[in-house]
Amino acid sequence: MAARMVTVFGGSGFIGRYIVQRLAQRGWLIRVAVRRPDAALFLKPLGDVGQITPIAANLRDDASVAAAVDGAEAAINLVGILYESGRQTFAAVHVEGARRAAAAAKAAGAQRFIQMSAIGADARSPSGYGRSKAAGEAAVRAVFAEASIVRPSIVVGPEDDFFNRFAAMARLSPALPLIGGGRTRFQPVYVGDVADAFLKLIEDPATRGRTYELGGPRVYSFKELLQLMLRETRQRRLLVPLPFALADLQAAVLELLPRPPLTRDQVRMLRRDNVVAPGAATLADLGIRPTAIEVIIPAYLERYRPGGRFGAAPSP
Ligand SMILES: NC(=O)c1ccc[n+]([C@@H]2O[C@H](COP(=O)([O-])OP(=O)(O)OC[C@H]3O[C@@H](n4cnc5c(N)ncnc54)[C@H](OP(=O)(O)O)[C@@H]3O)[C@@H](O)[C@H]2O)c1
Repeated sequence: MAARMVTVFGGSGFIGRYIVQRLAQRGWLIRVAVRRPDAALFLKPLGDVGQITPIAANLRDDASVAAAVDGAEAAINLVGILYESGRQTFAAVHVEGARRAAAAAKAAGAQRFIQMSAIGADARSPSGYGRSKAAGEAAVRAVFAEASIVRPSIVVGPEDDFFNRFAAMARLSPALPLIGGGRTRFQPVYVGDVADAFLKLIEDPATRGRTYELGGPRVYSFKELLQLMLRETRQRRLLVPLPFALADLQAAVLELLPRPPLTRDQVRMLRRDNVVAPGAATLADLGIRPTAIEVIIPAYLERYRPGGRFGAAPSP
């Protein structure tokens, strides 16, 4: 029997690599559709020879998206941005791009479509990110009614943008900001559990048309997450409350950087808790027991400890 083919838009990112690895282990033929396929070549050794193929596709371009899903039995859309830059706007990527991928998959005869969204996706969200994720969900469902939607809280793992970012910041600064007092609540979820969820969604027909919210076993405040990071990296730093209004001013300046570490839209996002909603379908409904993040983070935060490899002079 010919191997089944799946197209993974955004498969070279932090979460994508874990999903691609799981799909490869299950024998899928995988097309990784990204703008820079050369930056996705590292994925090839995760599968057999010829099993994983990076190809050039841009969610903003009809022809490349149609070519990416040609012959695919399933498609997964992981493409997302945290801030807008040039033509990579929330509307173009999260809404029109998602619609384009789902419509092309439908036209190509794909049986499954899975859309990556986020907790906080809400038409009434104070942030453009949250509103565009909600509009993306609706756009996907309008053209691919049986699509499944996945909304994680923050995703953690070796290449994450959360613990790595704050651990690196702590190595360079005597104090860390607690935006809005650090009271925003999160339910961080291990990237391996998120990848297992995608595998289940792609293979279990009972999950069609449903929306899942993915969170880990515990809810933490932003302050508790920073304290956890500081314990793991054996650092003592001042945690300084920064009112939302001041964070907003600071973000307005940081937004001028080419890769802004904080934007006003992200500050708006922090005004709402980021936890699994009561009654939502979750990892448990997919038969997955969430992994405690305390088990996962020591392995990759160790290098930020005093004397660790982070910041050390590169070896000759
Ligand atoms: N990380 C989290 O904590 C988290 C939490 C909740 C939800 N999510 C959602 O999960 C998804 C994946 O997140 P991530 O952290 O893995 O993201 P990431 O590491 O930034 O990866 C983004 C991927 O999208 C590709 N991409 C960007 N623009 C594209 C375009 N116009 N056309 C085609 N490909 C494009 C990138 O490759 P190229 O640059 O080569 O195109 C890359 O493969 C996003 O939708 C995000 O909103 C993430």
